[in-house]
Amino acid sequence: KARLAILLSGRGSNMLSLVQATQTGVLQGLAEVVVVFSNKPDAPGLELAVAQGYPVASLPSQGRKREAFDAEAAELLQQYHPDFVVLAGYMRILSPAFIQPFAGRILNIHPADTHQHQGLHAYEWAFDNQLAETKITVHLVDEGLDTGPILAQETVDLRGADTLAEVERRGLAVEHHLYAQVLADLIINKQKRSC
Ligand code: GAR
Repeated sequence: KARLAILLSGRGSNMLSLVQATQTGVLQGLAEVVVVFSNKPDAPGLELAVAQGYPVASLPSQGRKREAFDAEAAELLQQYHPDFVVLAGYMRILSPAFIQPFAGRILNIHPADTHQHQGLHAYEWAFDNQLAETKITVHLVDEGLDTGPILAQETVDLRGADTLAEVERRGLAVEHHLYAQVLADLIINKQKRSC
C-alpha cells in the first residue's frame, strides 16, 4: 500500500475524506495514512485524526524561518517513509528544503483553477466575482504558489449559489471525492509502471 502523509493547518475535512477513502472508498487496499502532520499544534484537523486513531505530529511554524522550519518538518516526515505527501489545507508555501526530499511526490488541492487564482480565499474570489462556475485543482507542488503541474481539475457549478457558504459547500463536495480519486489513479498508474 502507498504510504500517505497528510499535512493540514486547519479544519481537516479533506484529511477526513482521504482517511475514509482508505477505509471504505476508492483508496481501500491502495493506500494507508501513516501520519497526519500540522504546522499548527491546535489545528482542529489534528484532533479529528486522533479521534480516528491515526498517528499525528506537529511542529509550530510560528516565528520560525521558513527554510529551517521546512528542513525540520521534512526530517520529521521522512521518519514515516511516505510515498506521497498530501497537502490538505496546509497553508504554507514550501521551500526547497521541504520539496527536495519528496520531489514529484507532493500533492496539493486548490479550490480554484490555479491558472486563474492562487493563494488564499479562492471561494471568496469565486463568490465575489459571481462566477457561474469554478474549478477544483489537484496539482503537484513545486516552489511557486500554486504553480505546479496540474493532475486533474473538476468544474463546480455555482449557478444559484447565492451565499459564500453555499459556494464552499458545493466546492468541498467536489474536493472530497476528487482528491481521493486522483490519488487512487496515481497509485494504480505507478503500480502498472513497476510491473
Ligand atoms: C480547502 O478548501 C482547500 O482546498 C483549501 O483550504 C481548505 C481546507 O479545508 N486549500 C487552499 O486554499 C490552498 N491554497 P479542510 O481543512 O477542511 O480540508
